[in-house]
Amino acid sequence: MCGIVGAVAQRDVSPILLEGLKRLEYRGYDSAGLAVIDENDVVQRIRVLGKVNQLQQEHEASPLSGGTGIAHTRWATHGKPSVNNAHPHICRDEIALVHNGIIENHESLREQQRSAGFEFTSETDTEVIVNGIYQAIQTNPDILEAVFQTISQLNGAYALGVINKADPKRLIAVRKGSPLVIGVGIGEYFIASDVFALLPVTQRFIFLEEGDVADIKRDKLTIYDKDRNIVDRPINVSELNADVADKAGYRHYMLKEIFSQPDAISESLKSRIEDGKIVINEFGQNADSIFTRVKAVKIVACGTSYHAGLIAANWIEEIANISCHVEIASEFRYRKSVVTDNTLFVCISQSGETADTLAALQKAKEEKYLGTLAICNVAESTITREAELVFLTHAGPEIGVASTKAFTTQLVALFLLVVAIGRNNGLSLEDENGYVKQLESLPGRVNQLLLHKDEIEVMAKSFADKHHALFLGRGNFLPVAMEGALKLKEISYIHAEAYAAGELKHGPLALVDKDMPVIAVAPNNHLLEKLKSNLQEVQAREGKLFIFADKNSEVEATDNVRVLNISAVYDFMAPILYTIPLQLLAYYVAVIKGADIDQPRNLAKSVTVE
Ligand code: F6R
Repeated sequence: MCGIVGAVAQRDVSPILLEGLKRLEYRGYDSAGLAVIDENDVVQRIRVLGKVNQLQQEHEASPLSGGTGIAHTRWATHGKPSVNNAHPHICRDEIALVHNGIIENHESLREQQRSAGFEFTSETDTEVIVNGIYQAIQTNPDILEAVFQTISQLNGAYALGVINKADPKRLIAVRKGSPLVIGVGIGEYFIASDVFALLPVTQRFIFLEEGDVADIKRDKLTIYDKDRNIVDRPINVSELNADVADKAGYRHYMLKEIFSQPDAISESLKSRIEDGKIVINEFGQNADSIFTRVKAVKIVACGTSYHAGLIAANWIEEIANISCHVEIASEFRYRKSVVTDNTLFVCISQSGETADTLAALQKAKEEKYLGTLAICNVAESTITREAELVFLTHAGPEIGVASTKAFTTQLVALFLLVVAIGRNNGLSLEDENGYVKQLESLPGRVNQLLLHKDEIEVMAKSFADKHHALFLGRGNFLPVAMEGALKLKEISYIHAEAYAAGELKHGPLALVDKDMPVIAVAPNNHLLEKLKSNLQEVQAREGKLFIFADKNSEVEATDNVRVLNISAVYDFMAPILYTIPLQLLAYYVAVIKGADIDQPRNLAKSVTVE
């Protein structure tokens, strides 16, 4: 992952770099650094172990100033979080470099450079790049040539920003496998991992393409494609707003985002429904002609987005009568799979930058899919630019690392897709109107669920001293349970696993004793009685049950069974509704544990490495 920013300008660029890093912190936050070339053409650098705030403090204590600079916020891949492993990396006070990605052949390059007399100061895969450029510049002093020569030896993914003491008003940027945009100013240029980082300084952006190398001077930008041809890339004007989202009085972004779900869902439905029918064009120009031919659906995603895919698969098979297969992107991308005729490929991603999901989409584009559709929350992301059809969830920026409103709005988008496809597969207009009503009822019903906040906060206390938890569900509530377990583990660090309740007796029941909390999702549906039998198995082993049930589920509370009757009536929206109390439970447990809720350890919001 990691976030990178760079600038070449007349003015001091350090405040721009620091602000950019703050905005990129969702990409990684274990260490940070910045380097500028000062007025004496000396490369100056500050690096810290910790977050961008710490870098800002260090910078206030001993400010750097210069018109050319690069900066980085890190999510460690090679080498632990430490000052030495933090970027920018510098070779012999000459070349400074920031890198987002992974160099797969760094070990062999390291060996070669060691034999050539280079000493390494970090455990990163990045240092070989900066050394390589330094080495190349000894034979040809042109920095652009040196970068070309060096990257021709690299395997892996890399977005790079490179500055050179000998050519102090120049910045070289490279994009291969990791995102990078160029911000166009007046007499100044910027680079960053995403548009958002640069919105305070420009609205005009050039999206580099795979393999592009940009030679950036204050007054001149030259872009080379992967074959070293000079190319013209268009300037896009962003409509995004520069305002950094605030917490609006909530203690954490995650809580704000949980509570903003009714609005996020309303926004995601707006203009997507007309006269009780789904507006197919919202999926893209060719959506109608593709949807009429769909005979199967393949969904690929990671993490929370994968869970949304699992729920959608059940809907697709049940409502649209079409077979659907869901796969984790990191598996799909390396697996030979059979594409049946007329299969629509759907990838789901909040960020639109997840490396595995992007690679899966690229693979699908080369295979015989009927079409590719991306469901995404970020309009100007790589995935939205690569997919043939795009449906944007309008959840607004999600800042908390744990995904909440992105998940529920993905489900809304997927339900719209199910009905849109189902229309060509026997779904009547009357059915469509009924489903649309269910969707439109969602914001109000989610609001009702949020009213359970205080009860869930009390329930969370029972988890304060726990190290493990089991989540159970059946049917479309298994992915809900999986999502609940993921939320709990990622922000409270309690080991949590989800199982199909019917699987319990095939192994996990061995874990159940009086210290094992078991959380069950028990809507009043056709599987309720089956689930109740599974819960009896837990009770008989003195397991502590926490059951989320409908008022009509008739689940009785006892000493070992806590029941939260939520105001949900079972219908197709129920997986969305049951997600809300599980998000709140994870949140309040993490509050009790004093965890860093918006930036949990070891994680990052946008996973741009595989
Ligand atoms: C969990 C979470 C992650 C993401 C996953 C995919 O709360 O946020 O599991 O869902 O990294 O990210 P996107 O959806 O951006 O592709």
